[in-house]
This record gives sequence, structure tokens and C-alpha cells, in this order.
Amino acid sequence: VATAPTTLTLIGISGSLRRESFNTRLLQAARGLLPAGTVLHVRTLHGIPLYDADLEAAAGIPPEVEALKAEIAGAHGLLIATPEYNASLPGVLKNALDWLSRPPQDVPRVFLGKAVGLLGATPGRLGTALAQNAWLPVLWALRTRPFFAERIHLAGADQAFAGDGSLADPAFAARLRQYLLAFRAHVQPGGAGS
Ligand SMILES: Cc1cc2nc3c(=O)[nH]c(=O)nc-3n(C[C@H](O)[C@H](O)[C@H](O)COP(=O)(O)O)c2cc1C
Repeated sequence: VATAPTTLTLIGISGSLRRESFNTRLLQAARGLLPAGTVLHVRTLHGIPLYDADLEAAAGIPPEVEALKAEIAGAHGLLIATPEYNASLPGVLKNALDWLSRPPQDVPRVFLGKAVGLLGATPGRLGTALAQNAWLPVLWALRTRPFFAERIHLAGADQAFAGDGSLADPAFAARLRQYLLAFRAHVQPGGAGS
């Protein structure tokens, strides 16, 4: 009988390269709201080139992509914080997911059955709902196990963070805490914390 791991490891990918990114900040704030026995490593996409099949054929998978693939493969769950661009997903993040899905024979190791949660932040009013919807076919294509029980749409993100990076609105912080608790249960059904 398999014993439950004492610590669940989550990888959080921010889909923005911006230094002051609200999506990166959202993941960083989430680190302070995790259930017991959970760690969240926040990663950004710096250094990942534009996908180019000629580059792949000549030089293989870039080291930044290989490293992230290994981290996702080794993690119990993946959180994706997506910006919303033009009512859809941002190209920088899609480009990264496209690289992460190469070569195709590695997709089962990295993504098959992987618990994936979407969240997103925007100064706008819709909280990245359109971007999150746009990710659904990608999560399906990669054969992940998406988490749909809770949603995190951080609207008005330019007003959402206190100077120390924490979430200014206690009600939203409580929602994010609940999301993370439910995501943990999705990652490990029947496990501690579910
Ligand atoms: C090309 C472009 C298109 C955008 N389109 C949207 C949009 O459709 N909906 C939205 O809520 N915000 C939109 N924004 C604003 C982003 O939400 C905002 O730039 C946000 O700060 C990006 O996330 P970040 O803070 O993590 O970098 C757009 C921004 C850019 C640069």
C-alpha cells in the first residue's frame, strides 16, 4: 500500500516576464497561504526562446525548457498564473507550453494526468476569465487533469497588493487559501488535507 507523501510539491508558472507582474505576485502571495505539507516553487519563463522547429532540430530542447520539464514532471501539481491578452491567452506562456510539450514522447512524463490549476490576475474587471477559458483546449491536448472546482480571477490587480506583496483584501486572500486547499485535495484525493 502506497503511503501518502508528507509534502506535496507544486510548481507555479507565471505567464508574465514583467518584473512587477501581478501574476507572479499572485503566485508569490499564494506561497503564504498554502495548506500544511505543501510547497510551491514559483517559476517564470525568462530565457525560453521562441519555439522554432529548426532550432529544436539543430540544438535540441533548450536547457531552460528541460529544467522546467523536469520540475513539472517531479511535482505533484502545476499552477499556471495566466495574464489575459486581447481576450485570450498570452503568447509568451503558450510558447512556453509548446516548448514544454516537445518532444511528443515526453508529454506523458511531464503532463499526463498532472493536476493543473489555472489562476490569473489583471488590472481589468474580468479577472482573466477569458484567458483561463482559452487555456482549456491546451490542458486537454496535453492530457492533464485540470482542477475546476474553484476559480481565481484577480480583477483590479493594480490595487490588490500591499507594499509587502501580500494581498490587500482579506476576503480574496481567504478565497485563494480555499482554492489552494481544494487544489491540494485534487492533487492527492483522499490524502492529508483533503
Ligand atoms: C497586448 C495586451 C493585451 C491586453 N489585453 C487584455 C485583455 O484582453 N484583458 C485584460 O484583462 N487585460 C489585458 N491586458 C492588460 C494586462 O492584464 C496587464 O498588462 C497585466 O498587468 C498583465 O499581467 P502581468 O501584470 O502579470 O504582467 C492586455 C495587455 C497587453 C500588453
